[in-house]
Amino acid sequence: MKIGIIGAGNIGANAAKLFVKAGHEVAIANSRGAETLMDLANEIGAQTLGLEDAARFGEIVLIAVPFGNYKTLPAEVFQNKIVVDAGNYYPDRDGQFADIDDGKMTSSELMATHLKDARVVKAFNTIWFEHLKTKGDTSLPIEERRAIFVAGDDAESKKIVSDLIEEIGFAPVDTGNLRDGGLTQEPGTAVYNRELTASDAQAMLGGGGGY
Ligand SMILES: NC(=O)c1ccc[n+]([C@@H]2O[C@H](COP(=O)([O-])OP(=O)(O)OC[C@H]3O[C@@H](n4cnc5c(N)ncnc54)[C@H](OP(=O)(O)O)[C@@H]3O)[C@@H](O)[C@H]2O)c1
Repeated sequence: MKIGIIGAGNIGANAAKLFVKAGHEVAIANSRGAETLMDLANEIGAQTLGLEDAARFGEIVLIAVPFGNYKTLPAEVFQNKIVVDAGNYYPDRDGQFADIDDGKMTSSELMATHLKDARVVKAFNTIWFEHLKTKGDTSLPIEERRAIFVAGDDAESKKIVSDLIEEIGFAPVDTGNLRDGGLTQEPGTAVYNRELTASDAQAMLGGGGGY
């Protein structure tokens, strides 16, 4: 599969490595231009493109930039893409967003509103990058693997992202639609940045959350 990655920092670079290792074609991008990512791209076996080309390249596009920058992303190049939103809202870093503070929207709903023709799946946002780097293990049965939570409104997109999560040695755990799942996966929640296996996660979510 072709995967574009916007934001090649802690999460984006480590996800890129894992996706390449799993046999995918990966293009990474940031806001400063492809030439700034040449060394990283060579190291991990990915290519580097400008932001718009990386988005066009991907059948799946992972967005791993500080959430507060989401409106700089040009919506038209994400049309019909499966967009994986790894972002979290941290007001100290991102500034205040009244719709989130008032409980009207989750950060991923704001992303989906901005990227209006994309199919947004929230995933990879609850796992610390050092654990993303090291805790995947394809030799384990699914229920014993580290959980990566997945939320979204489009079942097919969630399935494709969940399969990708399994390929890199983790267990996808479904928390529901973008709103309810987004709330379940936010910073400060019971599942956020916790070292949970899929079976721990299922128990915590009260039996909901299919693999
Ligand atoms: N760190 C973690 O363990 C962790 C875990 C789960 C989720 N998250 C969330 O994932 C997101 C990324 O976190 P991170 O720790 O990976 O951040 P990071 O290490 O600071 O990397 C951010 C990347 O995004 C790029 N970027 C920034 N603004 C951009 C823009 N407007 N357009 C394109 N690229 C842009 C940066 O490059 P340039 O500045 O050069 O463009 C950099 O490559 C955040 O929302 C964070 O809360 C982080």
